[in-house]
Amino acid sequence: MTRQAAGETRARVKPFKVIIPAAGEGRRLRPHTHTRPKVLIEVAGKPIIGHIVERILAAGPTEICVVVGYRGNEVSSYLSASFDCPFQFVEQDDPKGLGDAVYRACDCVGDGPVLVMLGDTIVDMDLVDIVQGGNSVGVCEVEDPRRFGVVEQSDGRIVRLVEKPVDPPSNLALVGVYFLESAGEIFDSLERLIAEDRRTRGEYQLTDALQLMIDSGARLEARPVQHWLDCGTPRALLETNRYLLDHSPPASVSSGRPGCVLVPPVFVHESATLEDSVVGPHVSVGANALVRRSVVADSIVNQDAVVEHSVLEHSILGEGCVIKDRPRSLNVGGLSEFRTT
Ligand code: G1P
Repeated sequence: MTRQAAGETRARVKPFKVIIPAAGEGRRLRPHTHTRPKVLIEVAGKPIIGHIVERILAAGPTEICVVVGYRGNEVSSYLSASFDCPFQFVEQDDPKGLGDAVYRACDCVGDGPVLVMLGDTIVDMDLVDIVQGGNSVGVCEVEDPRRFGVVEQSDGRIVRLVEKPVDPPSNLALVGVYFLESAGEIFDSLERLIAEDRRTRGEYQLTDALQLMIDSGARLEARPVQHWLDCGTPRALLETNRYLLDHSPPASVSSGRPGCVLVPPVFVHESATLEDSVVGPHVSVGANALVRRSVVADSIVNQDAVVEHSVLEHSILGEGCVIKDRPRSLNVGGLSEFRTT
């Protein structure tokens, strides 16, 4: 495992801290989230949150505060073992929304500049540029904004934010990246929402706290993101796997596989065994997985999974599952087994 250090990143221009809300269970990614938390689901050779932390470290934060909940000890173990970075972990044991998650980080973040990045959303954008500027949120045009927080702009600044509106004021969705010059301001707004028990859709929303900041005179800009890589559903996860393998392929051991044809781009973990198989394009094979006498394309084969005598595409195989004898397209959770004989 490669450890990446905060100190190895580019020079910091102005110190900032980071909050990564990572407590969610990820129901839409079941069955995979039965056996691991959503942020540890693998895509293109590493967990979702690994891709996010890599991008954050490139911008040089002083500290990363991760808000954990469902299977939180697995999240903290993975991050501490993989990155040489000052992490702090705080618990969100009783999830009451994104606003509540962010508020729980107030003691470890203090009042200075803070970048909030959701633990399940990989975004390709220039974070260095973001953290040098003023208050901003990442946005992206979407076809159906009703599933997201939505912003309305006027004269180059945001005038309104609405969480999952029935009647959206625009098609600019919040992607889950927020930079605030003064964390104290957002914590004050969140504290007010919680004290007055103001919820939207039953939860304390970060979107509503940002609206309170604007109402008090704060300036907030919308920053369009280049690529927003959704990981929220199996289909989106495979799309993100394809994108990441195409654009930033992780180091992979793809030679010395006797009897195999590897069709790039692929990621094959050094401990995985491939025998007499055609693997790729767009396949990610995790640690200790075995692919034998099979053809696999456009799929994620997680660690310890076994694929034999099978032709697979558009598939996600959970860790330790066993697939034998020619199924075609599967979405199978950890420790599952599928055989025709
Ligand atoms: C959260 C935010 C929402 C944002 C979305 C991006 O919603 O509340 O404003 O648009 O993340 O993924 P969630 O997906 O947690 O429901």
